[in-house]
Amino acid sequence: MVESVRAAADLRSVISDYMPLKKSGVKFRGLCPFHQEKTPSFYVDADKQLFYCFGCQQGGDVFKFLMLYEKLEFPEALKLLAGRYGIPIPEKGSGPGRSERQAVVSINRKALGWYREQLKGPAGEKARRYLENRGISGDTIERFQIGFAPPGWTGLKAQLTGVQESLILTAGLLARKEETGRTYDRFRERVMFPILNLSDEVIGFGGRVLDAGEPKYLNSPDTPAFSKGENLFAVGHAKEAIRRDGYAILVEGYMDAIALHQAGIAPVVATLGTGFTAGHVRLLKRFTERVLVNFDPDAAGRTATRRSLEVLLEHGFEVQVVALPQGKDPDAFVREFGPEQYRARLAGSLPYIEFLTRDVAGRMDVSRTADKVRALNEVLPFLARMDNPVRRAGQVEMIASVLRIEDRLVLQELKSAVRDRRRLIGPGLEKAIGGGNGEASAAEATLLRALMDATEVRQTLLGELTEEDLEGSWMGEVVGAIRDLAGAGEEITYPRLGSRVNTTARDMMTRIAAQPHPPASLEEGRGCLSALRAGRLRREMTDIQKRLESGNETAGGAADTDSLLRRKVDLKRRIEALQQGV
Ligand code: UTP
Ligand code: MN
Repeated sequence: MVESVRAAADLRSVISDYMPLKKSGVKFRGLCPFHQEKTPSFYVDADKQLFYCFGCQQGGDVFKFLMLYEKLEFPEALKLLAGRYGIPIPEKGSGPGRSERQAVVSINRKALGWYREQLKGPAGEKARRYLENRGISGDTIERFQIGFAPPGWTGLKAQLTGVQESLILTAGLLARKEETGRTYDRFRERVMFPILNLSDEVIGFGGRVLDAGEPKYLNSPDTPAFSKGENLFAVGHAKEAIRRDGYAILVEGYMDAIALHQAGIAPVVATLGTGFTAGHVRLLKRFTERVLVNFDPDAAGRTATRRSLEVLLEHGFEVQVVALPQGKDPDAFVREFGPEQYRARLAGSLPYIEFLTRDVAGRMDVSRTADKVRALNEVLPFLARMDNPVRRAGQVEMIASVLRIEDRLVLQELKSAVRDRRRLIGPGLEKAIGGGNGEASAAEATLLRALMDATEVRQTLLGELTEEDLEGSWMGEVVGAIRDLAGAGEEITYPRLGSRVNTTARDMMTRIAAQPHPPASLEEGRGCLSALRAGRLRREMTDIQKRLESGNETAGGAADTDSLLRRKVDLKRRIEALQQGV
């Protein structure tokens, strides 16, 4: 089997599907796909059917190439090639694999016919009402061939008399009771969503309860025709649109996919209750390399989902995350707000790295050195998975802005970490972050003095300082501690404060306190406060400017641009007011 596939598969033509090869002497040569290089050191020896890279020392036969390139296990690589060269593979142990598969598909088709009749007939009354309540139109029921498995244990079984029972069991439509050995219908009293592959074969089913039963969805088990890790729901309905629009929208649920299709949003596929796998990647890669992920509102930040998305990134996909308001899945959202609003959400989706960085930053206090380090360590592994160096470098500025890395030295370190695909920040960068933070601005230093040296000045300034003024600054810690001590009527000294704040703030204070200085007046203190406020507003303005320049031409984008512009005008006015001491 392995040998017949190896014999059929020509290494050069397989590799040529993935990358250009040029003739070079008796061999063929190209840029190595397994490491970055400018001059080709990747060779294919067509006679020996072997490849080798003198740069990164990777090499092997046609299976090895696919395993490396497509990130496959050996059996998957074998299957892929066998499929390509039309060599039948015995599925799961012995047995007549191909015909068993065909039998399963044909039984599924018969069952589907019956399920669809049931939905239309008297037994389907309750299911029809259920679908209607969920906003599924008659047209959609036809297009998605939705059916109904009625209550009762033997309805389907009775329909399939004449079909070998063991095959119906293999198809997963019957189950067997352990104790008695009796078989019965697996799907009972469920709305049936057939799962079709690209050849329109009915490969499996998902069945949903009508009320609160468990499990909510019952799916076909993996069979010779069906594997959850290799199929996506609605792929046949979506494929043309995916090609046309240049991206696929990935959702989690049957109902999400159906509702979006019904709303006219067509490039939508759903996973089948599992994570995203290399098999899914292979399927999608035939149509696009761009995926907009619209999982549960908070799921995209969760570990399990992250791992799914990593698979996409590893295979060179561009991944964006679509965010919907709390608690809404795509089905609920599109039914409540309509397709236009949904499209606006698509337009506002963030590149995955940015989504992740913001998510991580949102869970931490990135004004603190330790949190900056932690945040970077969470983000870098994902960046490292992007193999396109230009795309990777393009993220540095975003990360710096979200994690508030302003220091030039730190930025340099970060750039090289990203360039080298480092997964951890390493001592150089960590030190730079610590050191880079060590410089308090002149305004911060004077403001601290104003707060420390004269009681009346302190009281006035404390009254004027807002949460917003201190947000993200080490001063926040200090002012909090000053308020605590003042509130408790205790004396306020540097050492006392020092014991109540984090290391960064303590270092800053120590340095400022160590420099001789005249006491700061209220005027000076206020001046510094204005300077800090103006600085913060200016940073926000820069941020808005960047977002405006990055552009966004869709409907939702236009509304967004409008509010950004208004915000910018407002910021400008406030900065001017601060500068005039108003
Ligand atoms: P959800 O629980 O998000 O359901 O599961 P849903 O699709 O929004 O369903 P409705 O709107 O309540 O009808 C998402 C997907 O996870 C799988 C199914 O593929 C489902 O579509 N799942 C969920 C199961 O396989 N079994 C379950 O019991 C639940
Ligand atoms: Mn739902």
